[in-house]
Amino acid sequence: MGTDDDTVDLFCGWPNPALLPSGALAEAFAAAMASPTVRAPALQYGPDEGYQPLREHIAQWLTSFYQPCAPIPADRICITGGASQNLACVLQVFTDPVYTRNVWMVAPTYHLACRIFDDAGFAGRLKAVPQDTSGVDLRFLRQSLLDAEEKARAEHNCDVIYKPPRPWAKIYKHIIYATPTFSNPSTVTMPRSNREGLVQLAREFDALIVCDDVYDFLQWSPEPTTPLTPENKAHLPRLVDIDRSLDGGPKDEWGNVLSNGSFSKLIGPGARTGWAEGTAKLAYGLSQTGSSRSGGAPSQLSAAMIDQLFPSGWFQRYLDEVLRPQYAERYRRLMSAIREHLVPLGVTLPFSSSEIAGGYFVWAQLPAPLRASDLDLLDQQVNVARGDLFRVQGDADTRTNTFDGYVRLCFAWESEENLTEGVRRLAEVVRNGLK
Ligand SMILES: Cc1ncc(COP(=O)(O)O)c(C=O)c1O
Repeated sequence: MGTDDDTVDLFCGWPNPALLPSGALAEAFAAAMASPTVRAPALQYGPDEGYQPLREHIAQWLTSFYQPCAPIPADRICITGGASQNLACVLQVFTDPVYTRNVWMVAPTYHLACRIFDDAGFAGRLKAVPQDTSGVDLRFLRQSLLDAEEKARAEHNCDVIYKPPRPWAKIYKHIIYATPTFSNPSTVTMPRSNREGLVQLAREFDALIVCDDVYDFLQWSPEPTTPLTPENKAHLPRLVDIDRSLDGGPKDEWGNVLSNGSFSKLIGPGARTGWAEGTAKLAYGLSQTGSSRSGGAPSQLSAAMIDQLFPSGWFQRYLDEVLRPQYAERYRRLMSAIREHLVPLGVTLPFSSSEIAGGYFVWAQLPAPLRASDLDLLDQQVNVARGDLFRVQGDADTRTNTFDGYVRLCFAWESEENLTEGVRRLAEVVRNGLK
């Protein structure tokens, strides 16, 4: 990844190698292989729902972090191959390429999800839903869902045609895709009332909300002098927690939200291991994806290795004492450089909060009339992601789906020392662009 050696790369959304716990993983792997009761199942085909000890540890860990209305039982958890791989499985089991009308994507969106939806037959039916600091535009989404239903009626799209009825699966009419906390790329965190409104809308229109809850654990205070309290608990419920308790709980045994979690940003993307949470029925249905029925949940060996990190408390300590402080430090460095070099040029941070920060990115708005596509990044040997990369692919609506006035800066990949230099170079590019 990256460009050439002298380029400062604020584009790449990967963790810096220094943030990967290779020593602990080497020990975990050795421990797993030394134990006959671990190594045999770890190296075998596994259960469809995934490595059982890890399901249990994840359930306890999520209960402690999110503090939902009741402890999370392991049967709500399914081990996955990470958020991306699991999104494909969700679409295989719970959508039909015709009966499922649209995929509604909170925009700007995680761009690599678009191909996964395309692969499942939704090309041309991905729709951007705008958001701002008060969250997703629910009024816009409601009207769009009403329009989509009217179109489906006119086209007599009333029955599931391509997927045979299966007791473990339900076909939803709509998919809503969101990253509700520290979104990639916008960094917007949806407020609680907005989360509740979205769950209500999903229930009303028979939609499954797929949430990439992949950045939730990386949170800190923007100001080191006023630490986040508490630092190791979520400050908002996930949408899946809301669906579990709102108005007496889910509408039916399937529910309307699936939380897509991942160890990519916590252990290492190469582990290709994550988890999904939903109602027990939804989690079980997911585990019945054809590819999991043939051989068990993905990443069995990785799952068994990661599981070794839980009983001793190592994983929690690593999050609290290493990962969060290191990311917080990187974030503050980048922000301080932005305040020094970019803000005086008219660059603004439309979604940054003074109370809580997190995730991997900073989303910055360029001073008008400058467009990201005009920036001569090569000239200053700096790379950032131009805003239009995060358009919902195939949606031509320029009111909701144009981001050329923005850039995304990542503080996870570059060496910490280079973050300030990268911003200084970007400021030079912006200054030249404004001339
Ligand atoms: C919103 C979002 N979802 C999913 C992923 C990828 O997750 P995984 O590595 O678990 O497939 C990323 C990685 O950048 C992301 O930002």
